[in-house]
Amino acid sequence: MRKLKTIRGMPDIFGNTLQKISFVEEVCRKTFHAHNFQEFRTPLLEDKDIFTRSVGETSDIVQKQMYEFQDKKGATLCLRPEGTVGLARALLTNGLDDSEIKKLFYIGPMFRYERPQKGRKRQFNQAGIELIADESYHADLEVIQVGVRILKDLNVKFKLEINYVGDVQTLSVYREHLRDFLLKNKTKIAEEFYQRLQRNPLRGLDSKDENIKAIFSKTKKLSDFLDSNQEQKFKSVINGLEALGIEYTINQDLVRGLDYYTGTVFEFITDKLGTQNALIGGGRYDTLLMDLGGKKLPAVGFALGVDRLAELVNPSHNDKFLFIGSLTSESKEYGQKIGSILRELRPDVVIENYLGEANVSKQLKKASSLGFKFVMIIGQEELKSKSFKVKDLNNSNADFLIEENNLAEIFND
Ligand code: HAM
Repeated sequence: MRKLKTIRGMPDIFGNTLQKISFVEEVCRKTFHAHNFQEFRTPLLEDKDIFTRSVGETSDIVQKQMYEFQDKKGATLCLRPEGTVGLARALLTNGLDDSEIKKLFYIGPMFRYERPQKGRKRQFNQAGIELIADESYHADLEVIQVGVRILKDLNVKFKLEINYVGDVQTLSVYREHLRDFLLKNKTKIAEEFYQRLQRNPLRGLDSKDENIKAIFSKTKKLSDFLDSNQEQKFKSVINGLEALGIEYTINQDLVRGLDYYTGTVFEFITDKLGTQNALIGGGRYDTLLMDLGGKKLPAVGFALGVDRLAELVNPSHNDKFLFIGSLTSESKEYGQKIGSILRELRPDVVIENYLGEANVSKQLKKASSLGFKFVMIIGQEELKSKSFKVKDLNNSNADFLIEENNLAEIFND
């Protein structure tokens, strides 16, 4: 039989890693709710076409990272590489594209056929928000504030980088400028790179290649192409960040890898994860809904890499409360009754009914290695007396006795 294996870049998630991922997702969910964002779920599969039209034909995602296939009727579908486009599609197909401001969030898996490495997987989880139908800079600030709150709650150090990419027209003029500039520097760039950059010249700005970086440092910045109205809008966002006490760095080379951005773009980055340093990426996309066939509806949002953040968090919270061991089948049954009474009193803590067979000292060791605060072991004597010796595994309290008719005492601290 062929050896079983997982698909490259799509590891199973369990144990400690899953605990950290769940912790990040819980903090995200709590913060989204605190800002009154509502959950929205879209399918994992979409028509490929909607991504080609919006993320950009020449973007890395569409060029090489899509998991695409034909279904039985020949439709070209793909596993969603990100959540914004599917959500925009859903607003249109569900008639939710009115001018009412909407604050939506999603948490779930995305798929990109990238070369797996630290911080980069082919199936990964994103938690994202999208604020629809508000073109004011207040919406940009609201979204950024949510990102700041989450990273602070997770106790993760970050740097916020921000830029302003103008509108479709600005970007198109800037791309042409870069193409001319590239042509003038053609002899300095390897042919393969050159062709790729001619197709998508913005990619040169955030290239990691030293030669390309040096060449691009000599050309005009996108900010040189903004009109006074756009400059003023960017200034409002910057002033707003200052008023909110949010530290930021303007990164004039930040353009993001998806074509739908217009206006403010930002990334929250870390220096703890090597080259995959973006924790959150987002920005404004005022023409995406229109590009998908709807009317012009301004929007701004971000997505956060749950798996990347999980590598940086340390959930210290321990809710493992009581390990109920037992020595016979009869005492196991009785232990389950005690466990269920205690869980009814305190559904928020973890109570383990140990189901294995082991002597007292092994069960004590097990309780301790699993991180429980208290342990009690039910044998013949406890069955008869209906009272149990509770041992504090942190040793901060002496052992104490509790009785079946007074179980709540175990929670008195
Ligand atoms: P993105 O920058 O492509 O933006 O992805 C957002 C975040 O997802 C990244 O900052 C990173 O933390 C995480 N991420 C991306 N690819 C991978 C991967 N292969 N493995 C692990 N983590 C990854 C978007 O997806 C936009 N939809 C964000 C947005 C929402 N813009 C407006 N609204």
